[in-house]
Amino acid sequence: MSKKKLLVATGGGDCPGLNAVIRAIVKSADRNGEWEVYGSMEAFNGVLEDPPEIVHLDNDRVQGIHVKGGTIIKTTNKGNPLNYPIQKENGETEHIDLSDKLIERIYNMGFEAVINIGGDGSQKISKALFDKGLNIVGVPKTIDNDLSSTDLTFGFSTAVQIATDSFDKLVTTASSHNRVMILEVMGRNAGWIALHTAIAGGAELCLIPEVPFKLETIANVIESRYDEGTGFVNIVIAEGAQMDGKLVGRKEEGDENIKLGGVGNALRFALEDYGVKHDIRVAVLGHIQRGGSPIAFDRILASAFGVRAFELVRDGKYGHMVNYKNNLVSYTTLADATSSYNFVEVNNYLINTAKSIGLSFGVK
Ligand code: F6P
Repeated sequence: MSKKKLLVATGGGDCPGLNAVIRAIVKSADRNGEWEVYGSMEAFNGVLEDPPEIVHLDNDRVQGIHVKGGTIIKTTNKGNPLNYPIQKENGETEHIDLSDKLIERIYNMGFEAVINIGGDGSQKISKALFDKGLNIVGVPKTIDNDLSSTDLTFGFSTAVQIATDSFDKLVTTASSHNRVMILEVMGRNAGWIALHTAIAGGAELCLIPEVPFKLETIANVIESRYDEGTGFVNIVIAEGAQMDGKLVGRKEEGDENIKLGGVGNALRFALEDYGVKHDIRVAVLGHIQRGGSPIAFDRILASAFGVRAFELVRDGKYGHMVNYKNNLVSYTTLADATSSYNFVEVNNYLINTAKSIGLSFGVK
């Protein structure tokens, strides 16, 4: 009997744990015996390419990949089939809706179902494709942990570990030189990485997109640390924290979102202009947070997500995304998964934890 065909894609920014999900899907399918798994290279671009770029994912292909960062089937954040960028002859980029063509191709290639591993943007694509008739299941991924229907995404804990290790290194050099050290971490709209890193590392200040800060407060916290004799200060700032109500970065032609980066330095210069006389240095962690091997927790979460996603496909439960809630790996509808955003709320228990151990958010 011929096997049913399952297509897997990874979309959006990469994150540690993607390969562990792919491996878990392939191994589950192999044990089930009724399915064989394929990967679309570079999100759904692999389906839309001429000729298509589809790879067979068997046990040999996925052996040991759970330890590796990145994704063996590549990814992109420039492959939204509903708003697909096409280069015109005059060099301009036009965006067109290729979703019908994509679905037709997937079915014409003999695929019965699709698992789309990706963040908020990718799951909005999953929902739109499901609404148009595609048998699709989502798996949430993002280092930002900004999907509201899951308590955790894989990749986040690895990013926090990398940021915390980096923070610890900055503390020793800040202390040796009596400096103010600013660590800029990722976090576009949600400050989860910054908040976790600041608590784990023991920062004095944590600046996140959700909480507007005042230079005066930050300067006062810095001065009081020197006044009390400690003589150095460590600050964690999320790249999406706003300076004077503005994001710091650059939006180039064709970009859907502003490319963030530089708020750490902007803060340094603003503090110097404000009159802070202590030496200030900045470290921007950037994509280091998204690279390399996932920590054990993320390998386990990613494996559990991959297994659950395959079970949803096996049971025909399309239009859902797997999630992790209250220590259970379960699932929710794609509609629910994409309806709201996971911001750091002021009543979150970690805000209280942070304040109670003397961490300032720079609020007046
Ligand atoms: O969404 C995850 C994320 O890492 C954000 O924290 C960051 O702003 C963005 O992706 C960076 O995207 P890119 O890899 O396209 O520069």
